[in-house]
Amino acid sequence: MEHKKLLITGGAGFIGSHVVRRFVKNYPHYEIYNLDKLTYAGNLMNLKDIEDYPNYHFVKGDIVDETFIQDLFNQHQFDGVVHLAAESHVDRSISNPTEFIRTNVLGTINLLNAANSIWKGQMEGKRFYHISTDEVYGSLGDTGFFTEETKYDPRSPYSSSKASSDHLVRAYFHTYGLPVVVSNCSNNYGSFHFPEKLIPLAINNIKLMRPIPVYGAGDNIRDWLYVEDHARAIDLIFHKGRSGETYNIGGANEWTNLDLIHKLCEIMDQKMHRAPGTSAGLITFVKDRAGHDHRYAIDFTKLKNELGWEPSLQFEEGLDRTVEWYLTNEEWLNAVTSGNYQHYYESQYEKR
Ligand code: NAD
Ligand code: DAU
Repeated sequence: MEHKKLLITGGAGFIGSHVVRRFVKNYPHYEIYNLDKLTYAGNLMNLKDIEDYPNYHFVKGDIVDETFIQDLFNQHQFDGVVHLAAESHVDRSISNPTEFIRTNVLGTINLLNAANSIWKGQMEGKRFYHISTDEVYGSLGDTGFFTEETKYDPRSPYSSSKASSDHLVRAYFHTYGLPVVVSNCSNNYGSFHFPEKLIPLAINNIKLMRPIPVYGAGDNIRDWLYVEDHARAIDLIFHKGRSGETYNIGGANEWTNLDLIHKLCEIMDQKMHRAPGTSAGLITFVKDRAGHDHRYAIDFTKLKNELGWEPSLQFEEGLDRTVEWYLTNEEWLNAVTSGNYQHYYESQYEKR
């Protein structure tokens, strides 16, 4: 089994923590370095179960810091990079776009430059995997799907910054021969999801009998994928995807926000032993998101045909598991909603 040293960025976030866990457990002969700035979205409690594995290392740092990134690559001579670190919340990108350009664009080019400089002349066996989003393709009407050929048409500061980073990654393939691969995925859901995003926010509010804010008329459509299915796709693409290629990843699972919230309310009524309809009474229509994309839907035929990947879970089962996870992991949810998770790093790492 080939030994590899891999850098995973953003591994303390929602999807990154699932990816780190999967790689650390499935590839004991790999050394996994998780580089994360620990912004409000980074939470090392997400990785408590694997933090003592001998092949796992945590590095606190900012991908925007060019010197730090170059030094890190010089020191470790990574064989591969799985790049997830990003500012990821559309609403925050509307109130503070510049931070998105710094992390998502400048941070990505720093990583590209560092990989390019240590792999120069010896690209064989190396891989730079950039994790992106379906939002770069823009907004669909009521029909059609995003394919890998769909023209980019980002419409929020978040999706524009991701589109920009995708273009840079592909430019490094064409210009310098950097062995890159890109994937664009639809909305994820599951455990360790920060409760500013729709599903965990709604679960938490329903639990506490607080209003559930639904933007506009609730008729926007998203294609939901269970996060562990995304991590499985990332594993597959990292190992088997073709260099220079893009793979779309999706759930074949479209829901309007309002239907999704009604489904969640039903599940929560059952689990909280409430009379049917109690949770739905919390639904509150609020002002729409500026520039709110109407519909995302992914065609993942290429990934299915080339690498045999398909989503494994029915949405009802995935949602049920997710709700169960939030209700049984109260300590995690309370730490996140109170801000206490931000002290975990000091208590766990700075004393070592
Ligand atoms: P997240 O916001 O939960 O986590 C992002 C992580 O990146 C956090 O741990 C944060 O601390 C870290 N980070 C942020 N800025 C950093 C910096 N400057 N330096 C180092 N680390 C930094 O995000 P997520 O939802 O897990 O998304 C991960 C990636 O997947 C992102 O690139 C996102 O664009 C993409 N994506 C997300 C979804 C989704 O539904 N959440 C879908 C498709 C693609
Ligand atoms: O499509 C992939 C993208 O999915 C990722 O690239 C992003 O990082 C990720 O955050 C997610 O973006 P969305 O904007 O689709 O996710 P969010 O959970 O913020 O919103 C989902 C839908 O629910 C969207 O139509 C807006 C709506 N919404 C959201 C919130 C937070 C509400 O109606 N009320 C809310 O309170």
